[in-house]
Amino acid sequence: MNEDQKKTQIELAAKKMSGEKDYSQYFQTTYEPPSLKQAKKRGKENVEIHYDFDIPENMKEIGYGKKFLIRTYGCQMNEHDSENMAGILMNMGFESTTDTEDADVILINTCAIRENAENKVFGEIGHLKQLKQDNPGLVIGVCGCMSQEESVVNRILEKHQQVDLIFGTHNIHRLPELLENALFSKEVVMEVWSKEGDIIENMPRARKGHFQAWVNIMYGCDKFCTYCIVPYTRGKERSRRPEDIIEEVRHLTRNGYKEITLLGQNVNAYGKDLEDIQYGLGDLMDDIRKIDIPRVRFTTSHPRDFDDHLIEVLAKGGNLVEHIHLPVQSGSNDVLKRMARKYTRESYVDLAARIKKAIPHASFTTDIIVGFPNETEEQFEETLSLVREMEYDSCFTYIYSARDGTPAARMEDNVPHDVKRERLARLNKLVNDLSAEKNKAYDGQVVEVLVEGKSKKDPEVLSGRTRTNKLVNFRAPEDAVGTLVHVKITEAKTWSLNGEVVTPAGVE
Ligand code: SAH
Ligand code: SF4
Ligand code: F3S
Repeated sequence: MNEDQKKTQIELAAKKMSGEKDYSQYFQTTYEPPSLKQAKKRGKENVEIHYDFDIPENMKEIGYGKKFLIRTYGCQMNEHDSENMAGILMNMGFESTTDTEDADVILINTCAIRENAENKVFGEIGHLKQLKQDNPGLVIGVCGCMSQEESVVNRILEKHQQVDLIFGTHNIHRLPELLENALFSKEVVMEVWSKEGDIIENMPRARKGHFQAWVNIMYGCDKFCTYCIVPYTRGKERSRRPEDIIEEVRHLTRNGYKEITLLGQNVNAYGKDLEDIQYGLGDLMDDIRKIDIPRVRFTTSHPRDFDDHLIEVLAKGGNLVEHIHLPVQSGSNDVLKRMARKYTRESYVDLAARIKKAIPHASFTTDIIVGFPNETEEQFEETLSLVREMEYDSCFTYIYSARDGTPAARMEDNVPHDVKRERLARLNKLVNDLSAEKNKAYDGQVVEVLVEGKSKKDPEVLSGRTRTNKLVNFRAPEDAVGTLVHVKITEAKTWSLNGEVVTPAGVE
């Protein structure tokens, strides 16, 4: 917030406190629109950590008798942000609902990574128009990565008058005030800070899972891969203090959690911005390894910052599971260069070989983009050959989508869309064949599974994941959910494994 905005806020607060009745007219409804250009600027100023988040007394009862619903799109980071927003709303007296008709507040937590992700969100916003007409008291809010984009905000302001509130990824802790404004104001309430380097530590949190939890270790991304919008929507890289992360993991352990996933856009850059200590992801994992929680995962790794110390620590095993998600994006050095990934195919393969040597049973997964501007058939084939060479367990594959404001969006592109679609289909065929082959190796093996819940296809069947992140289906009583069991694999399929429970895990 700049000085002027702070002043407006203070004036508002003073007017409210002095007992002004109709204070809605004083709310400045547009604080700051987003700017991708601003977002690109990386300041040298220190990251401030705030431990003093609190919901103002006068807002703690605003939600009594009211319900909220949060729709979440995008990555785990967004899922976790939604848990924070739900925590804030519950501390304001709201209850959660899954029924849009029943909701007094609907928040759409959006993802900007590809055009189709954005189209889904606009579809959803469109659907809510009727609901708003039937229930004018409903507050509809748009937050998350799309609200950091000028073009999206302009489109909402022009075409979607049913939206009452727009706030950005740096403004989540401001939800109480923003929502209060939206409830009283007749105009759209908007607050999107384009660049903000702060960390808010103690926001309330309503976690969705009771035995699996996300733990943020860092925010933002400074890598600026040329196709990617994330560095603009999430701000600069900033790491949480190790002691805060470790305390959170200890707290989760005390509360019976079985698995945590450490989150960041580029977790391997963890600690680089901590100026007073030399402490990286390897050090953090080594400390978390000593905590008595059964499983620790982390995502997402950038190949460039994956160092030997981290490999050494991961090789110690224990609660550090054998699954490495290592996005490669392309097998062609020329494409990698134009993506500004800053590693080569050879250095990637060499890194993977070092990891495999240290952790022989590790499963490898990756992300791949096909149809990057001007990608040639030969370059695409280099991606196919890399996938064959790496023998990935599974891959997330995407067609390149131009994102406004990124350098790649300004590149010429001579690859027709059907060629891109055809390349994606060829890649997916190879990826699926490899997954099926990898899964076959599990046939007859006994694996440890964390039971996650009922299978989506058959409620009689439970499903869970191995340490290597393979999905396993098996029959077992429902009370096994949330426990670790040993399962003997009896059938390997392309995307999952079937098996029979041998013993609950830990019972030898
Ligand atoms: N921070 C993570 C990636 C987050 S986005 C990392 O660097 O690995 C997840 C994946 O979406 C990326 O790995 C990439 O494969 C894909 N992606 C990102 N931008 C994209 C775009 N403009 N078009 C298509 N896919 C994209
Ligand atoms: Fe995007 Fe690259 Fe950052 Fe990943 S590392 S979030 S792909 S810019
Ligand atoms: Fe999407 Fe933002 Fe995550 S763009 S992938 S929700 S960081």
